[in-house]
Amino acid sequence: MPASRDSNGLLRLGGVSLPELVRSLPAAQSATPAYVYDLDAMAGEVRALRGAFDGSPHLVAYAMKANTAGAVVRAIAAQGAGADVVSGAELLVALRCGVPPERIVYNGVAKTDAEIDQAVSCGPSGIAAVQIESVEEIARVEARARATGRRARVGLRVNPSLDLDGATHAHIATGHDRAKFGVPRDDAARAVDLCESSPHLELVGMGAHVGSHFTSTGPYVESADVLFGIVGALRAAGRLRSMTFVDTGGGFGVDYVGPVPGETRAPVPAPSDFVRAVRAAQGRARLDDLALYVEPGRSIVAAHGILVSRVTQVKVADGARWLMIDAGMNDLIRPALYGARHRVVPLYAPPSDEPWIPWRVVGPVCESSDDFGEHPLPRAAPDYVAILDAGAYGYTMASVYNGRQLPAEVFVSGGRVSARTERTPVEEWVAERVGAGAG
Ligand code: LLP
Repeated sequence: MPASRDSNGLLRLGGVSLPELVRSLPAAQSATPAYVYDLDAMAGEVRALRGAFDGSPHLVAYAMKANTAGAVVRAIAAQGAGADVVSGAELLVALRCGVPPERIVYNGVAKTDAEIDQAVSCGPSGIAAVQIESVEEIARVEARARATGRRARVGLRVNPSLDLDGATHAHIATGHDRAKFGVPRDDAARAVDLCESSPHLELVGMGAHVGSHFTSTGPYVESADVLFGIVGALRAAGRLRSMTFVDTGGGFGVDYVGPVPGETRAPVPAPSDFVRAVRAAQGRARLDDLALYVEPGRSIVAAHGILVSRVTQVKVADGARWLMIDAGMNDLIRPALYGARHRVVPLYAPPSDEPWIPWRVVGPVCESSDDFGEHPLPRAAPDYVAILDAGAYGYTMASVYNGRQLPAEVFVSGGRVSARTERTPVEEWVAERVGAGAG
């Protein structure tokens, strides 16, 4: 269950009271900003998603870029999930967290030779598939496979060339023909020929990833239909004989808005709704003999992580009420980068009849885009707040801009704090910067 408030006004996550958690952190001044994750709920998302396959062959390749914390990856892998990685470093994290190589797919438009070598050579027979994103990349993967003496298992990522205007934020829409991703659909047959004529490549799959954070199943299924159409036509022509899977990518959206009193909205489909819809499309295309791979990131972890932040300064000026907190755009960049809205709530809110008033919640970074938006909060400024639904693309996109440290991370499991990591020490950054260029 995502963060919720109990009858005493305490915000809880994974059974842990967050005000209590904050009190238990060592140095209160440097303990926040801290991401807090509910590992059991993340594992539950994987179980629910796998259940939607009803025992048919599948792989949930968790998109590591959403959250690479070891405890998170281990909790997800323990439910039988694999991983979608996009760098050699993510691949190492996945492997060291116990994800078996045969459950890992590697996406990315500009993999280096070293990264391709790493993917092809790990484990007894390499990863499940290096997903090739352009006709030109085929020759390079082939050359690396030859050099490493391995037959590389590859997938082809096709760009479905859809019109995605307005379907999600432009920065995270990938399946349109102005995007750098994937083999253009018209080049798919030529790419298949090139792969199939190489003794160094084994074409095991074809995939598409249409983009991220879709709040309806429409574009996801539309993209899958294009993919299935290409696969079906090639198979009818006697091709794709070594193919074992189709991969319809990630992109299942989440509900960042939450319930709004008096407003009825179409609910955001659950991840299992996306899987059911795409399985139906696979059935219609008569491709049921192929395993179905999906690559969800956000929908597994977003709702089960929050960013806890201390209020450092209150400012009331020109009629505006500013709540200045110790988390900034460097800790959670989504609002600044995508205009994303995350709910901000107090950690402790005793039951009261007094109406909440709008506060503008901003961080300490010297940019006007360091702004989490206006939120209803108690008139008496809270001492701590939580930014909700921050479990995906939070810490993984954090930076040390403005000489700020990376946030802490706290892991909750079994109704208690099971582990935590401190913020990186200030001195580490200072020494590295002072040393930069110093002979
Ligand atoms: N597969 C591929 C090939 C991807 O590029 C991505 C995300 C995923 C799977 C996972 O998508 P998801 O299920 O998480 O939507 N930083 C942005 C999101 C960038 C997504 C990039 N690719 C954000 O904070 O909204």
